[in-house]
Amino acid sequence: MSRNSKQWTQKPNLPSTHYADPKIYSDPAIFEEEKEKIFKKVWMLAAHESEVANPHDFRTYEHPGGTRLVIMRGEDMKIRTFYNICPHRGNLLVYEPSGNAKKLVCIFHQWAFDAKGDCVDIPRGKAGYQDRICESDVGLREVKTEVGYGGFVWVNLDDSCAPLSAHIGSALDYMMPELETEPLEVLWYYQATLRTNFKLIHDTNQEFYHDYLHYHNRITGMLDPKSGYFQRRYTAFPNGHASVGSMNVSYDAYTGSGHSALGWPKLPPNGWKLVDLFPCITYNLRTSVLRIDSYIPLGPDRVLLEFRILGLKSDTPEVRKQREKDAATIWSPFGRNLHEDLLASSGQGMAMARGSDPMYVLHAREEDNLIHDEVGMRHYLEEWSAWMGRSSSDSTRKIADSKPQATAPAHQEQDVAQPA
Ligand code: FES
Ligand SMILES: [Fe+2]
Repeated sequence: MSRNSKQWTQKPNLPSTHYADPKIYSDPAIFEEEKEKIFKKVWMLAAHESEVANPHDFRTYEHPGGTRLVIMRGEDMKIRTFYNICPHRGNLLVYEPSGNAKKLVCIFHQWAFDAKGDCVDIPRGKAGYQDRICESDVGLREVKTEVGYGGFVWVNLDDSCAPLSAHIGSALDYMMPELETEPLEVLWYYQATLRTNFKLIHDTNQEFYHDYLHYHNRITGMLDPKSGYFQRRYTAFPNGHASVGSMNVSYDAYTGSGHSALGWPKLPPNGWKLVDLFPCITYNLRTSVLRIDSYIPLGPDRVLLEFRILGLKSDTPEVRKQREKDAATIWSPFGRNLHEDLLASSGQGMAMARGSDPMYVLHAREEDNLIHDEVGMRHYLEEWSAWMGRSSSDSTRKIADSKPQATAPAHQEQDVAQPA
């Protein structure tokens, strides 16, 4: 039966963990609060070490906390991150997305900085500042940086944050053999900008009920009992992370799939593993290619998606070409899956934009934590609520002080079976 306005907007008759207040996906004030309480305090995956492979290589990163950063490798091969802001008059220090420079020289008045963030030149410094300001007073602002979990460069704006390992915990353990088998290299980097909330697109990686959207996944997984698709089980890890168990993709069931025999060291042939990390990062290893998604929320209804396709640094040109081809069939902007995910998430963003008659968003499927259960999204919103100090099912309801990452105890791992 169709519903009138009152029925449309009323709370579902479900536990409050099983639906979300639509305001958390569109309210500008909540978005500003997310920047302060989550993004300025959480570890974010900003780049891969292969993007700054050589001394003096640099890469810029638009941090979701609102601060632009520059990541740079020093002569000592250490990767450091700085605010991309000149300490003189606040100009953007680096305009290019990437490059190699012995010194970062601000275009405005030519102050120069080395890869350790030290100021090494102030033109006519002595003449203008006498003994009041010198180079050692005006270094760049360094940001906490760690490299790990497959050679990725992680940054945290909070000087007093806990180490990266405390945030990741054991969430990536079941993928670590494949991630650390040998050095990785970024083959492709591409972006998409969507008019949607970042949590909605991250949700598409956190629930697999939406495989009805993907013809490829239906044919190569859901409809083939041999794939192990319906045996995949969610594991919820502390700090809002989750994984789904592995499966074997039945590429042969898709006529013209173009699938190659190329695999990935330590991953079973045709294997697929996936881990979602709070607040908006996904590790997705499918057969011969690793795809990393990391999202940069630009507003309550706008998100910049970064995609990295990785292979092995040791790949020959032929193997690399094959890996790229495998990636292209599924995950490139013209592949079989990615555009479908983006279409659905932007559809949510359009339909639930501010001003529409709000309806509660259902996260209510329970299937013993198997693949079409929505426990992944529920677990995520539980963590979101802890950081925000407000309920995700009723955003006006404060629940506790927000979770300071450096000190808060991790939640207990939930009683969900480990992935096979
Ligand atoms: S603002 Fe950079 S040198 Fe003046
Ligand atoms: Fe999808």
